[in-house]
Amino acid sequence: MLRLVAALLAVAALPAITPTALASPQGGTAAATTAQQPAGTPAAPVACNNSPELCSRAYSNITHMGAHDSAFLRDASTGNSIAGNQYYNATVALSAGIRLLQAQVHLSSSTLRLCHTLCELLDAGPLDAWLAKIKAWLDGNRNEVVTLLLVNADNQPASAFAAAFSSSGIASYAFTPPSSSSSNNNNTTIAWPTLQALIAANTRLVTFIAGITPDANHPYLLNEFDHAFETPYNVTSLAAFGCALDRPGTANSSAAALAAGLLPLVNHFAYASLAQGVEIPDASDIDTTNSPSETQVGALGRHVSGCVAEWGGSSPCYG
Ligand SMILES: *[C@@H]1O[C@H](CO)[C@@H](O)[C@H](O)[C@H]1NC(C)=O
Ligand SMILES: *[C@@H]1O[C@H](CO)[C@@H](O)[C@H](O)[C@H]1NC(C)=O
Ligand SMILES: *[C@@H]1O[C@H](CO)[C@@H](O)[C@H](O)[C@H]1NC(C)=O
Ligand SMILES: *[C@@H]1O[C@H](CO)[C@@H](O)[C@H](O)[C@H]1NC(C)=O
Ligand SMILES: *[C@@H]1O[C@H](CO)[C@@H](O)[C@H](O)[C@H]1NC(C)=O
Ligand SMILES: *[C@@H]1O[C@H](CO)[C@@H](O)[C@H](O)[C@H]1NC(C)=O
Repeated sequence: MLRLVAALLAVAALPAITPTALASPQGGTAAATTAQQPAGTPAAPVACNNSPELCSRAYSNITHMGAHDSAFLRDASTGNSIAGNQYYNATVALSAGIRLLQAQVHLSSSTLRLCHTLCELLDAGPLDAWLAKIKAWLDGNRNEVVTLLLVNADNQPASAFAAAFSSSGIASYAFTPPSSSSSNNNNTTIAWPTLQALIAANTRLVTFIAGITPDANHPYLLNEFDHAFETPYNVTSLAAFGCALDRPGTANSSAAALAAGLLPLVNHFAYASLAQGVEIPDASDIDTTNSPSETQVGALGRHVSGCVAEWGGSSPCYG
């Protein structure tokens, strides 16, 4: 299950944030959705996110495989920039099975742009143009649920993001949590629907933004750390991958965060150091980093199975 992304997760990089690798049903065998329905009811999809086993699972009870810095490419389009984290673009990543796309958003010349650390370093273009390409993929893949995780690097308001989501057309797919779980009370735990329900409603895009002030006018733009927690992302040794809570610090520990209903995101990418403390993706160890092995030090499989054990059986929601 991990093999198909072997070349994608590769790299990770510069000061950045977020996710990683892996997906698949988590343990157990959910009842497969049957295509036989009573007359008059819409047919259920036969597979959700590529698997019949996932249709009846809550969104929060699945491991969504992620690509860190998914917009920042190390390919011909960037002159093979060492600030790039991925060898393949987001469309290719989605078609290979990635279901969470992470990227940083900066303000440059009054426009929200996908830039890695600084727009002078790596500028992957306007946010709305990238979102339009993700929308096109969703248009063509009707049984797939995708999650975005964007970093609000320049503290822009929700309205600025909403403008890009609207102009790209992707806002039409946005999932809005039921109002009872919105941030206007003290319980931000979302009662997550099943994949099948998200697909039936055609609300197949879940959007988290790190560092956004929730805005009731744009309730689909979820503040990441109201709903999720992350393990450390600045890992410079393959032996150092862990499962402790890194952010949000206010959640105190992984155990407390899980108890509070925050969705766990396992960061699994490694940095290598250049001179003067500059860090770049540790591409030389990619075969180890992306390996499903549960015994090899530094392997994704070992990291995730270690977290499941440490977390009393809870699997990552994003990895
Ligand atoms: C990441 O960790 C390395 C080694 O511990 C440290 O030198 C560096 O400053 C850290 N970078 C960030 C962005 O935290
Ligand atoms: C997650 O899905 C599995 C398989 O369907 C099920 O056994 C388990 O109870 C679910 N967990 C939660 C918390 O819903
Ligand atoms: C990825 O590359 C393909 C082929 O050039 C292109 O059609 C697609 O729009 C690109 N996707 C993104 C997100 O850039
Ligand atoms: C939420 O918590 C704050 C601080 O404890 C409290 O003042 C406020 O009334 C609470 N709001 C609701 C809707 O319960
Ligand atoms: C918070 O909301 C979730 C989802 O609606 C619910 O399951 C949970 O019981 C609520 N927790 C509290 C403390 O009210
Ligand atoms: C974190 O610890 C503080 C201080 O003990 C406590 O007030 C708070 O409720 C805890 N937060 C969570 C999410 O458990």
